[in-house]
Amino acid sequence: MGPLGQHRKAAEGYYMFPKLEGEIASRMIFRGKERLVWSLNNYLGLANHPEIRKADTEATAAFGMAYPMGARMMSGNSNYHEQLENELAAFVGKPKVLLVNYGYQGVVSAIDALVDRHDVIVYDAESHACIVDGVRLHAGKRFMFKHNDIESCEKQLERATKLIEAGENKGSILLITEGVFGMTGAQGKLKEIVELKKKYKFRMLVDDAHGFGAMGATGAGTAEAQGVTDEIDIYFSTFAKSMASIGAFFATTVEIADFLRYNMRSQIFAKSLPMPIVIGAIKRLELLRDRPELKAKLWTIVNAMQKGLKERGFDLGTTTSPVTPVMMKGSLGEATALVVDLRENFNIFCSVVVYPVVPKDVILLRLIPTAAHSLEDVEETLNAFSQVSAKLKAGAYANDGVVSMS
Ligand SMILES: Cc1ncc(COP(=O)(O)O)c(C=O)c1O
Repeated sequence: MGPLGQHRKAAEGYYMFPKLEGEIASRMIFRGKERLVWSLNNYLGLANHPEIRKADTEATAAFGMAYPMGARMMSGNSNYHEQLENELAAFVGKPKVLLVNYGYQGVVSAIDALVDRHDVIVYDAESHACIVDGVRLHAGKRFMFKHNDIESCEKQLERATKLIEAGENKGSILLITEGVFGMTGAQGKLKEIVELKKKYKFRMLVDDAHGFGAMGATGAGTAEAQGVTDEIDIYFSTFAKSMASIGAFFATTVEIADFLRYNMRSQIFAKSLPMPIVIGAIKRLELLRDRPELKAKLWTIVNAMQKGLKERGFDLGTTTSPVTPVMMKGSLGEATALVVDLRENFNIFCSVVVYPVVPKDVILLRLIPTAAHSLEDVEETLNAFSQVSAKLKAGAYANDGVVSMS
């Protein structure tokens, strides 16, 4: 059953596959009771925004969920798909955008299309599963650099360059990293990596799933925040987070976008996004772009939460983004007992990450502050965290195994 599946009897429906019910908001129903929820990537609060709900409903009434039928290349294209692409391109400051069905499969498939066996991939060690799985498909060499370590990154670029120069069929280097790493909230060192372009010849693909909408002066993402939009060759984001929907996009040059359009197997051989998703995304982009107060509210909540946690002595690691990891020391058994206490007695629902994603003695609670939260929500959570942390240190959660909540 694998490292997570082995715990399914004790964990199913509680730690894994939980059901959050009711309207998407800061407070939702979990196991029949209202809880304060910090586990949704609804950064700008768009998921349940009345204007979004209205646009989604009207588009569904007008088009249903079927239209357009077929892959975009065959019969599934529309003016709305192209309008969304044009608006996204203008917003992130790139010549062309390619809309794709899902982020995960889009990244896997884009990597597959962009490289052949003569090319070399250089990528960050803590990359998201979609990058790791895309790299797995690669028939040529791949060099991993230590997470956010520029020295290691340069070493791997040097190796890759030598390999390519020695080869008969000259390939190229594709460097892949993230804008904001979803587990730790650390930003990828895009600016430093871009600097390496002066010494090495490579193209850069950046997955900014957690940065788009939340980072940068206009919300155009981490490349904007670090002032390197022009130097990022291929910028990617999903609609699954700030856009509170489904679908994703690549923003790049006309040449690369056209290459991807004609070569990405996940798009050529799969149905295009239904119209309500596309029209809904146009509306979401409008709000993300034209209502700066949403991002301002997000950051008010983020800053209050991160400042409050730090003042109480919590270790937030290296985050410089809304993703707020809270690291504590404890066993898997203690992690599960602490989460039960937080959920059942303090009515706080957040994600917990344990071994093998983090080292064996680390408990990582991950909070995602959003524009849908209030400062009162933050205060309530800070007080709860102080109490469970004191109990953890006093040994109140000590036990040998996963606390069964099935
Ligand atoms: C960094 C990163 N890339 C890609 C994805 C996958 O996107 P999607 O949910 O659209 O498949 C996610 C999660 O949603 C993510 O966090």
